[in-house]
Amino acid sequence: MTADTGAHPVRLETERLVLRIATAEDAPALVRYYSENRDFLAPWEPARAPEFYGAEFWREQAAIHHREFHGDRSLRLILLPRDSPREVIGSANFSQFVRGIFQACHLGYSLAERAEGQGLMREALGAAIPFVFGPLHMHRVMANHMPHNRRSGALLRALGFVVDGYARDYLRINGRWEDHVLTSLTNPDWKG
Ligand SMILES: CC(C)(COP(=O)(O)OP(=O)(O)OC[C@H]1O[C@@H](n2cnc3c(N)ncnc32)[C@H](O)[C@@H]1OP(=O)(O)O)[C@@H](O)C(=O)NCCC(=O)NCCS
Repeated sequence: MTADTGAHPVRLETERLVLRIATAEDAPALVRYYSENRDFLAPWEPARAPEFYGAEFWREQAAIHHREFHGDRSLRLILLPRDSPREVIGSANFSQFVRGIFQACHLGYSLAERAEGQGLMREALGAAIPFVFGPLHMHRVMANHMPHNRRSGALLRALGFVVDGYARDYLRINGRWEDHVLTSLTNPDWKG
């Protein structure tokens, strides 16, 4: 794990993956990722505007993601295979940082269709969550999934997330308000 103030303020390595905040140079790979997986991701994500599939959008997002990280507002990571480091195969976004008496954030993630079923998100979050709990000093990570999203529910259970509740019409996914199971993971080693 490294953390510096250069182009890659965070860089986490696992057995098969590198995790870091996107830069403008990653824009074409992000366009490829979201375009190739458009139909696969559609049932689980917000409806996307046409710009979402263009490089300009992702160049702007990269700058925003760096600004947000340095402003203690989010940690938005892309997942790159160690043996193919210019290819984006997923994302793990810790967002909406709240400090004060909460010390909490939200987590959202996605993988490429062809990267599913290999334990890659578990591996990625197995490195990212300790970074969020350690250097980023969070006490709680919250992640929510639609009741029929079996893979997402299984992933969160495997990582130790516990169910906090059930929220009706919680998020607008693919153009519809969808119920969500609310889960969270707390940091037993948090020190004030
Ligand atoms: C949610 C999502 C990230 C889960 O991906 P995933 O690959 O199932 O997640 P994991 O990393 O936990 O991998 C577990 C799977 O890998 C398999 N696996 C293979 N090798 C493994 C290993 N070394 N370690 C752990 N699991 C392994 C497991 O058996 C399991 O597959 P199975 O359910 O078919 O048995 C993915 O389905 C996705 O991106 N979906 C679309 C977007 C989405 O739903 N986002 C979340 C919205 S809440």
